[in-house]
Amino acid sequence: MKVLLIGSGGREHALASALIRDTTVEQLHVAPGNPGIAGIAICHPVDIRENKAILELAKKLSVDLVVIGPEGPLVNALADELRKANIATFGPSKAAAQLEGSKHFAKQVMRDAGVPTGKSFTCTNRAEIERALDAFGAPYVVKHDGLAQGKGVVVTQDRAMAIEHALLAKQVVIEEFLDGSEVSLFGISDGTTIIAMQPAQDFKRALDGDLGPNTGGMGAYSPLPWAPDDIMQEVLEKVLNPTIKEMAASGTPFVGLLYAGLALTTKGLKVIEFNVRFGDPETQVLAPRLKTPLGQLLLAAATGKLENFGALDWSEQSAVTVVLASEGYPNSSEIGKEISAIETNPNSFVFHAGTQLVDGALLSNGGRVLAITGLGTDLTQARDAAYRTISRISLPGSHYRSDIALNASVAEKGN
Ligand code: AMP
Ligand code: GLY
Repeated sequence: MKVLLIGSGGREHALASALIRDTTVEQLHVAPGNPGIAGIAICHPVDIRENKAILELAKKLSVDLVVIGPEGPLVNALADELRKANIATFGPSKAAAQLEGSKHFAKQVMRDAGVPTGKSFTCTNRAEIERALDAFGAPYVVKHDGLAQGKGVVVTQDRAMAIEHALLAKQVVIEEFLDGSEVSLFGISDGTTIIAMQPAQDFKRALDGDLGPNTGGMGAYSPLPWAPDDIMQEVLEKVLNPTIKEMAASGTPFVGLLYAGLALTTKGLKVIEFNVRFGDPETQVLAPRLKTPLGQLLLAAATGKLENFGALDWSEQSAVTVVLASEGYPNSSEIGKEISAIETNPNSFVFHAGTQLVDGALLSNGGRVLAITGLGTDLTQARDAAYRTISRISLPGSHYRSDIALNASVAEKGN
């Protein structure tokens, strides 16, 4: 089959490398891609905000499947346009993408579907905001209702700061604080059947020890040796299945990847957020471990054929991803700096996230520049592989966390 993948980040590079391992994928096209992806697929310089341009490209290439990476085009109705033209598409409609596009919508669906999540109030003015903050007390959790590129959520002890953040948006969701470990667990859905992927954990804060500001994600690992054995089953029963059932019943079936961001609280698991696409950087640990042919899986989801697809097949190996970020990230990012000395070896992948080629030189082109994934028989070995590779890459001013999967690897060794 011919596949067209939309996006240009580390997530898309990891998806592309899994797609080309699928022997039924004869041609992989990516729009727009990046210099790393260009090494393994055919890239097309298209602005992904232009649905028409992507539709034209998909038709011109006569692709059998379009896979949409980022949330922007999903919320912008790209999947609707492609399906109208009878092109099999992995990614939800604009209406279903509201599970990520509106925190208020997601809360309503969870309430209607009986999915466990934190209590919350949706507020549109100062009086409502103050009432909601005081109802829960500190730490305060304030979320802008719409897409905010990772900047919409503030968790703070400071009431004045919580109010200030809330007043920046027309509508906010104020939520009770959820304690406990966070887990990212993805389901692949064809609208009526959903298959759970193995769980991963993401590191959201910029600095070691979970300090510093929230980022798009500084690293990830999978599997989670400390997670309950039945976590996939429990999340399927309590979260993924009820959610897609509710979406189908309300006339907005969800076809694509449903990302459940979970907190394992003392009162059981609760959904912190939904996303409607593969996570970044979780995909950089999951894609290298997935043995099931990815193209066939996503095509089956896009064409309503998951019921008989069977369970996914995973490598026994552990994977750890460490993100190399630009100077100043996440507050600002210095771009255009030269990256050198990238070496890969069989135990590590270097996924490009924000890079560009200028006159033959590889330059940084975003906050998150590279995502380095190491593989090994356990998390300790996977960490070693990732950190060995990242420590040899040079990018002036760059930084990365040194403690990705550290606690989990120590606990795993102790068992
Ligand atoms: P979100 O964009 O909803 O994933 O939020 C970003 C991050 O903020 C999450 O990964 C959590 O670390 C934190 N967060 C969000 N909601 C809550 C909550 N109710 N309680 C505690 N932390 C939260
Ligand atoms: N890793 C967080 C996200 O993809 O939103």
